[in-house]
Amino acid sequence: MLRRIMNPIRVGIDALGLAFPRAYVALEDVARARGVPETKYTEGLGTVAMSVPEPDEDTVTLAVEAAADALERADVEPSEIGLCIVGTETAVDHSKPVASFLQGLLGLPSTCRIFEAKHACYGGTAGLMTALDWIASGRARGRKALVVCSDIARYGLNTPGEPTQGAGSVALVVSENPRVLSIDTATIGTSSQHVFDFWRPLESKDAFVDGHYSVTCYLEALRGAHAEHVRLGGRTPGDDLAATLYHVPYPKMAKKAHALVRELAGDGAPDQSFARLVAPSLVLPSRIGNIYTGSLYLALASLLACSERPIHGQDVTLFSYGSGCCAELFRGTITPGAQAAYSSLRARVDARRRLTVPEYEALFRARDEVRELDALPLGMIQDLRSVRLKGVQGGRRIYA
Ligand code: CAA
Repeated sequence: MLRRIMNPIRVGIDALGLAFPRAYVALEDVARARGVPETKYTEGLGTVAMSVPEPDEDTVTLAVEAAADALERADVEPSEIGLCIVGTETAVDHSKPVASFLQGLLGLPSTCRIFEAKHACYGGTAGLMTALDWIASGRARGRKALVVCSDIARYGLNTPGEPTQGAGSVALVVSENPRVLSIDTATIGTSSQHVFDFWRPLESKDAFVDGHYSVTCYLEALRGAHAEHVRLGGRTPGDDLAATLYHVPYPKMAKKAHALVRELAGDGAPDQSFARLVAPSLVLPSRIGNIYTGSLYLALASLLACSERPIHGQDVTLFSYGSGCCAELFRGTITPGAQAAYSSLRARVDARRRLTVPEYEALFRARDEVRELDALPLGMIQDLRSVRLKGVQGGRRIYA
């Protein structure tokens, strides 16, 4: 105990794995189909494209693919994982957690604690914070945690929320002596409120949202989390940082958040630092869309993949927001060597298939029609990166 107080262990993110659907729709095409000026979406919201899942892709398949990617990058065997938490607000079952499917498909050990965490887009951060505490407490006994954020963001066709959809998963291996980001656990600033800015009743596939109010709630939560971060000894995000990362429902939201943070830092010209401190983290989110729980960590992946400057050893701040609401502002240090490992992510995003608007609308409608299987598919799963939903049998979802 004394050793830990005098020489606290370094904990944080050891590797990130990413998964997103094979197809996307361009927002210039959606704008044209809806009779909206293209610039409202591409500049007003700052989003260029949204990932669109096909019927055999769901929250589980995206989570498995991201987790397999993260484990491979960390060079960690499933047997080394002692805690697996999936943060999601688009689960596939009211009772059986996505983490349980993950355990079966990845082969996580039977001694692994597995569960799902829900608090809108904050659910993944809830998992990360739990994992950090689990490791810092000594209960991990050398094992690592796997935190997976996986979601399919869905609003109705022809609604204001439609251009802020997306789908994807980010998996985090959390460990001691992390090789991507060390997190300062002493200054994590939390802010929460009971508000109805965004919700999805149990019977609804689509999210309900009070859109403009949700923007106000996000900024109020940022103000509160910032005040708590500073009260705990954290510094106001300033010019010393390599980047300020935000939850990104759409890139313009991150721009509004950055303006507030810089105002709190006494900066009268916040836009001047936007290109340096925020823009690289928005390259991938602007092409994938909102992925709810994974959105902040997609911004981190984007920073690593798209920053043209070396940022090793430098600090970043991260702001996580989940409607309802709970938010956290925290600080971390980028580990030397982290950037090079993620340089190919942008090419992976660029390789997706572009859909027409009628194809996107057909996939949107088809997503609820899961095929009933006559018989269980036989055979072992060979490649975890191409696990697909086969259908359901007696309410059980079958993957192959
Ligand atoms: N060219 C350029 N810009 C234009 C334009 C044009 N022709 N027309 C409008 N714009 C600008 C507007 O000025 C506005 O910019 P500012 O916010 O800087 O003023 C922007 O485009 C959006 O315009 P509107 O506000 O008129 O758009 P809208 O009423 O259709 O709705 C929205 C926007 C509220 C974000 C809606 O898309 C929505 O409800 N999205 C879902 C909710 C959401 O994402 N909330 C974010 C905070 S909550 C959260 O973060 C949790 C989460 O993940 C859901």
